[in-house]
Amino acid sequence: MPERVAPEVRILANAEAAVPFLLDEIRRAIAPRPAARGPALVGFATGGTYTAMLKALGAELDGRRIDGQSFVATHLDEYLGYPPERRGGMVHELGTNCPALLAMLRAGTFFPVPHVDADSALRAHDELLQRAGGVKLQFLGIGRNGHLAFNEPGTPFDSGFHRTRLAETTREDARARFAPEEPPREAVTSGLATILAADRLVLCAFGAAKAEAVAAMLRGEVSVACPASVLRQHRNVLVLLDRAAAQGLPGQQVAQGAC
Ligand code: F6R
Repeated sequence: MPERVAPEVRILANAEAAVPFLLDEIRRAIAPRPAARGPALVGFATGGTYTAMLKALGAELDGRRIDGQSFVATHLDEYLGYPPERRGGMVHELGTNCPALLAMLRAGTFFPVPHVDADSALRAHDELLQRAGGVKLQFLGIGRNGHLAFNEPGTPFDSGFHRTRLAETTREDARARFAPEEPPREAVTSGLATILAADRLVLCAFGAAKAEAVAAMLRGEVSVACPASVLRQHRNVLVLLDRAAAQGLPGQQVAQGAC
């Protein structure tokens, strides 16, 4: 049985304060590698948690302070029926916040999650990630209900890419993004086993609405009731929180990782 290492937890002032840490994670992941290994694969997350980071990454790429040729990109999930150009979709959001990712999409170095659920498409996407050497660094957010990507409570820990039905809280949180249309009911998501296969996982959560889910993730039972608790089965996890998201954690855990 491999030794478990608890996630490192750091408490920051807010999402903006997390940006330098997140950009450093990217710099470390894409640091020169033997040519045979090719560029590192970085997995992005979507959602409000990462808007500041994606905008800052766009500026770094435009200013060539991070070399867009030195990594390949992917992300976690896509709404069913939302191709890259459709507003509301995840690729559309990533490209809006960080246009350099759209250039990578055109160049074939950004691998979008399929917006269709055909087995062949999901398998091909998974194989593409494997051929790229697997995800080196995966960014993650957490849902109010403890979801990771769109793995809603009850999703088995051994899941790969699959079609999923969104929980009602997830749809409610996405409502403004799709207004006046109804938010989608289904998505294609990377599975929990897919996420755990990445070399390094960095999860961010900001705001009081995430506090309960964060406490369940780090202090509750490791169980499908809180999909994010699966992170405690990984040996290389960093969790960045603000004080509001950390309010359900014991003082000691907060103090330990505080910076
Ligand atoms: C989206 C995703 C979700 C979000 C989570 C938090 O690609 O994977 O798990 O990370 O719902 O969303 P925000 O950041 O909007 O609070």
